[in-house]
Amino acid sequence: MSEDIKKTIRELHIYEKKLLKELDANPDATPEEIAENTGMDIKSVMSAAGSLASKDIIEVEKDVEEEISLSEAGQEFANNGLPERRILDVLAEKRAIHMKDLADATGVDKKQANIAIGWLRRKNWAQIDKGEVKLTENGENFKDKLDNDEELLNHLIGAKNILKSKLDDAFMEGFKKLNDRKNILDIKKNTSHSFKILDKGEAILDEGFTIKEQATQLTHQQLKEGEWKSLEYRPYDINAEAPVVFAGKKHPLREIIDEIREIFLNMGFIEDNGEYVESAFWNFDSLFQPQDHAAREMQDTFYLKNPLTCDLPDDDLVKLTAETHETGADTGSIGWQYDWSEDVARQSVLRTHTTGISTKHLFEHEPPIKMFSVGRVFRRETFDYKHLPEFHQVEGLVCGEGISYQNLLGTLKEFYKKLGFEVRFRPAYFPYTYLSTESEIYLEEKESWIELGGAGMFRPEVLKPLGINQPALAFGMGIERLAMIRYDVEDIRMLYKSDIKWLREVPLSRGVRL
Ligand code: DAH
Repeated sequence: MSEDIKKTIRELHIYEKKLLKELDANPDATPEEIAENTGMDIKSVMSAAGSLASKDIIEVEKDVEEEISLSEAGQEFANNGLPERRILDVLAEKRAIHMKDLADATGVDKKQANIAIGWLRRKNWAQIDKGEVKLTENGENFKDKLDNDEELLNHLIGAKNILKSKLDDAFMEGFKKLNDRKNILDIKKNTSHSFKILDKGEAILDEGFTIKEQATQLTHQQLKEGEWKSLEYRPYDINAEAPVVFAGKKHPLREIIDEIREIFLNMGFIEDNGEYVESAFWNFDSLFQPQDHAAREMQDTFYLKNPLTCDLPDDDLVKLTAETHETGADTGSIGWQYDWSEDVARQSVLRTHTTGISTKHLFEHEPPIKMFSVGRVFRRETFDYKHLPEFHQVEGLVCGEGISYQNLLGTLKEFYKKLGFEVRFRPAYFPYTYLSTESEIYLEEKESWIELGGAGMFRPEVLKPLGINQPALAFGMGIERLAMIRYDVEDIRMLYKSDIKWLREVPLSRGVRL
C-alpha cells in the first residue's frame, strides 16, 4: 500500500499537490477559493481536480443551484401589489362587485382582472355568484395579512436574489404560486463544484509530500549549462490508461483496393477503366464466349431495358468476331459452328466481369501493354454470406513479344506475395484462354487452399479479331474474397453493412510488401 502511495505521490503534478494541500487545510473551499489561495487559475484547479478524481484521490461533486430573482414584471407586482390583492382591497369595503364593473372599480385592467379572478378563487378570497365577485370569510381574514407569495415578493425586492434551496416551507409554497404565473420570476441555474478528499487522498496526506516546481520542458539553455541536473522531474506513469481514439480512416474494402492499385502501379502497369453498362459484344463476344454460353443466361447476367442495346464497334472487328465464332476464321480453330447474331451482341448488360475492359484495351492500344483495372461487376446472385449481386474485380493484362505462360505465373506470384499471400496454381478452363489456370492461396487458420481468380493466355480466337499478333496473358480475381481473408470476416455482407463497431476496430495494417 505504502509503496503504491509513494508512487502515486511521485507522479502527482504540482497543481494536484497544491490542490490537495489546500483542500486539507480548507475542506469546504470552493474551486474559486482554491484558485485564489493557491495562485492557480480556475482552469488549472478544475483540471487538477479531474485528474485527482480519476485516481480516486478526491471526489468532485457537481451541484446545480437555482437562483431566483424578480423579473421586470415581478418587480412591478412587488411594488403595486398582485392584482388579486388590489381587488381584495376594494372588495373589503364593497363586499361584492359585479364582474363588468371590476376593472373600473379597482383600476386593474381587464386582462389582469380575468387572471386575478382565477387567483381570488384559488386563494379562496372571493367567490363568483350570479356575475358578482363576492368576498369570502377567508378573504376577510387576508384583508390585513399577506399571503406567502406576497411575502416572497417582498423578500425578493430586498434580497435581489436567493437560492431556491434556501427557501423555507412557507416561502416554498409562495414560490410555487409565483412560479405558476409566467414571467414573474427569473430562475438561473448555477453549477458549482465541491471537492471531498477520499481515503487514498488522506493516505497521501499522511505520507506527506513537498511542493516543489517541476520541470516539464527543458530549454536549450538548461541543457547546455547543466541546470537540468538539479531540476525536479515528475515521473510518467506509462501504464496510465489512455482514451481510445477512433481516428477517421478508409473503409477496409477501399483500403485493399488502393493497396492492389498501388501494387500494380509499382509493377509498371497502367490503369484503365470501363463502364458498368457494356454491350454483350465486349462482355462476352470479344472473349470468344459463344452466344448460347451458360454464363449469358438470364440467371447470371443483368440485361438492361434502358438502354436496351449498345452500339457495336468497328465493322471489321464485328465481322471478324462473327467469323471467328462461326468458323474460326484464320485462327487455326474451327470456331463454335453456329450462326452468330449481331442482335445478341448488341444487348446491353451490366458487366459481369472486368475482362471486357482488357479486350477493349487491346483493340484500342498497340502492344507492348501492361494494363490493370479495378471495378464493380454485377451478377444475379442471391445474397448470402459469400455472395453479393455486386462486387469488385481486379483484372490484369500483359501483351507483347515473347510473353509466356511462365510470365503469367510469375506476375501472379509476385502480386500475391506483395499482398502477403502464398499462391499455387491449378489447371482450369475459360472460353477465352489457353493455357488456363486458377490461383489458390493458402489459409493457415483453415489449413486449406481457397480459389481466388482465373487467368490464362488469351486464345488466338480472342486476339486475332482485335488485330493483336503478339501473345497476351490475362488474369482476373474477386476483391471481396481477399478482403474477407485479410480482415478475417466470415460474412461478405459485413463489407457493406457499415457496422460502426467493426469499422472502428478493424486494423488497417498494410499488408503490402513493395
Ligand atoms: N473473368 C473471369 C471471372 O470473372 C476471371 C478470369 C479468368 C479473368 C481468366 C481473366 C482470365 O482475365 O484470363 O471469373
